[in-house]
Amino acid sequence: SKDWNGVDQVMLRNPQGASARVSLHGGQVTSWRNEHGEELLFTSSKAIFKPPKAIRGGIPICFPLFGNGGSLEQHGFARNKIWAIDDNPPPLHPNDSHGKSFIDLILRPSEEDLKCWPHSFEFRLRVSLATDGDLNLISRVRNVNCKPFSFSFAYHTYFSVSDISEVRIEGLETLDYLDNLCQRERFTEQGNAITFESEVDRVYLSAPNAIAILDHEKKRTYVIRKDGLPDIVVWNPWDKKSKSMGDFGDEEYKQMVCVDAAAIVRPITLKPGEEWTGRVQLKVVPSSFCSDH
Ligand code: BG6
Repeated sequence: SKDWNGVDQVMLRNPQGASARVSLHGGQVTSWRNEHGEELLFTSSKAIFKPPKAIRGGIPICFPLFGNGGSLEQHGFARNKIWAIDDNPPPLHPNDSHGKSFIDLILRPSEEDLKCWPHSFEFRLRVSLATDGDLNLISRVRNVNCKPFSFSFAYHTYFSVSDISEVRIEGLETLDYLDNLCQRERFTEQGNAITFESEVDRVYLSAPNAIAILDHEKKRTYVIRKDGLPDIVVWNPWDKKSKSMGDFGDEEYKQMVCVDAAAIVRPITLKPGEEWTGRVQLKVVPSSFCSDH
């Protein structure tokens, strides 16, 4: 089907009625619903579905840069581009076949991209919806150039929550983080789960491979499992920054939290011919499940 701007999008469904929607704009997942039809990802009511602007919500792919610096736009160009469907992707490991509902996309740099980032690459993204409703994203970046290059990366995931002040993140306790609100100064998280009462914009270093977002009010827990992605970004713009973003509602910060599986602090370097893989698995479970098991 097409989105509001005529860009192709692909629907994935599983037999239980869960679904995911992937737009060729950004190779971006723009919806993920459980078997009851409840939306699990946040998208702003003010989101602009028009390239070259990224869609505010879902799972933008930040590549080849997370953050800003040099001649690249903030969070890189991948999220602003129209990706292609990859009809014949190189085989993935058998463990990466999560059922039949998947789509393979590919991004190659345009002439214009090569002007600000002169490295030829092939970026393959597989999005799959498992029979149990889990959402799996696998990114493969290959260096098809004759020189090495380095990049940073994030699955900038906007989770839908009922009330940010009732949300806790578990799994990042005692880790070091860089605080974007203090010139990326390094701090150490204390022993408690992360809660929100003001703007948060951090990169947690060397996070464990599974972390959880607990939505107390919805009695829902998101579990993020990651592989090849050492860092975790946690972002909530809170009230003041929300007002400064044209494609974000003033009060919408209450209904979202970004928790990104990422590779930022130590960029990935690929030699010619080398390939990197970064995987994330998103699962949603009733909160009682977590405390009982
Ligand atoms: C976060 C950054 O991850 O993304 C923030 O750390 C930034 O500083 C936010 O504001 C949103 O970025 P953008 O480019 O999508 O507005």
